[in-house]
Amino acid sequence: MHHTPFILVTGGAGYIGSHTVAALLSTTNYRILSVDNYSNSTPDTYSRIEQATGKKPEYLQADLADAAQVEELFRNYPGITGIIHFAAYKSVPESVHKPVEYYRNNMNSLLNVLEAGAAHGVKQFIFSSSCSIYGNISTLPVNENTTPATAESPYAYTKVLGERVLSDFAASGTALKSVALRYFNPVGAWPGGLLGELPNQRPNNLVPMITQTAIGKIAEMKVFGNDYPTRDGTCIRDYIHVCDIAEAHVLALNHLMNTPQAPAYDVFNLGSGSGVTVLEAIETFEKVSHQKLTYTIAPRRAGDVTAIYSDSRKALEILQWKPLRSIEEMMHSAWQWECRLAGKMAV
Ligand SMILES: NC(=O)c1ccc[n+]([C@@H]2O[C@H](COP(=O)([O-])OP(=O)(O)OC[C@H]3O[C@@H](n4cnc5c(N)ncnc54)[C@H](O)[C@@H]3O)[C@@H](O)[C@H]2O)c1
Repeated sequence: MHHTPFILVTGGAGYIGSHTVAALLSTTNYRILSVDNYSNSTPDTYSRIEQATGKKPEYLQADLADAAQVEELFRNYPGITGIIHFAAYKSVPESVHKPVEYYRNNMNSLLNVLEAGAAHGVKQFIFSSSCSIYGNISTLPVNENTTPATAESPYAYTKVLGERVLSDFAASGTALKSVALRYFNPVGAWPGGLLGELPNQRPNNLVPMITQTAIGKIAEMKVFGNDYPTRDGTCIRDYIHVCDIAEAHVLALNHLMNTPQAPAYDVFNLGSGSGVTVLEAIETFEKVSHQKLTYTIAPRRAGDVTAIYSDSRKALEILQWKPLRSIEEMMHSAWQWECRLAGKMAV
């Protein structure tokens, strides 16, 4: 007999989780349960998901770093078939100051969810990894066979370890298969700015910095370094629309469900495949938003790599994943979200 898949999304109230829940609700008939402790989000997200898709997931508040709460969750929701595990702390600079909290939260939640999930019959597991596992790499673009340099932060190390846990678990003969998705720089928001990234601290990332400057939350933004060996002297990153990232999760999940010969563990880069400089990103934002940004050039920031971008051909070949949205759409939707947060209309 064929049952409807029942998918647990951990961290489903967060930025990428909420877009993935929305993608699942709008493109599948799967039963969706989001579990979050709202350490970096709020349950209001579920109403926004409903606005965006016409559907609301089931949801539950729990701390996944607590094994007892995870065991109780699986007892109360029998029949979960797959897990998409987003729940983690994600700030690189914060992880440098609070390494123990990062290792505890990110490792314990993964170990708890993986162990209890497998014990309760879960067959598919998708893990949020990151391009930060590649460290300061100089061979570009990076693909999944590129030997990573050393991880630069406790945060990045939690992803290195997470991948290792999944590959060791796969080798132990479990019936659970897993995929690690290494996101490059997810940006942008659901069309119309209905869902987006809720910044609870001063942002360290370029796109939230841009939109917050344009809306007036930040007086003047800084471009960190214009003396890098790149075409305009500023750093190069691989920005990828969060809706493209969300769709990759649906594809990866379906791939594991429908491909008996899929390996027990696999890993995929998710990037656009092309690099954009900081100044190019600013220029694109100004063009699509009709806003003029004030910025100054500041010294380089410690820990920033000069350039990184992805070779994502493996995801295309095996998952049939192709990023569909342009840098203009990333900037435009991010701006719509910022305006919606401020109660203003975007252009
Ligand atoms: N946003 C990025 O740039 C990026 C890049 C690469 C990888 N990732 C990874 O993708 C995942 C999702 O990132 P995001 O940007 O959506 O972050 P987010 O902070 O918006 O979402 C994470 C969610 O997990 C929840 N959470 C954290 N610890 C929890 C716990 N112990 N129990 C229950 N819930 C918990 C938070 O409340 C939050 O809602 C994370 O694993 C992150 O490390 C993010």
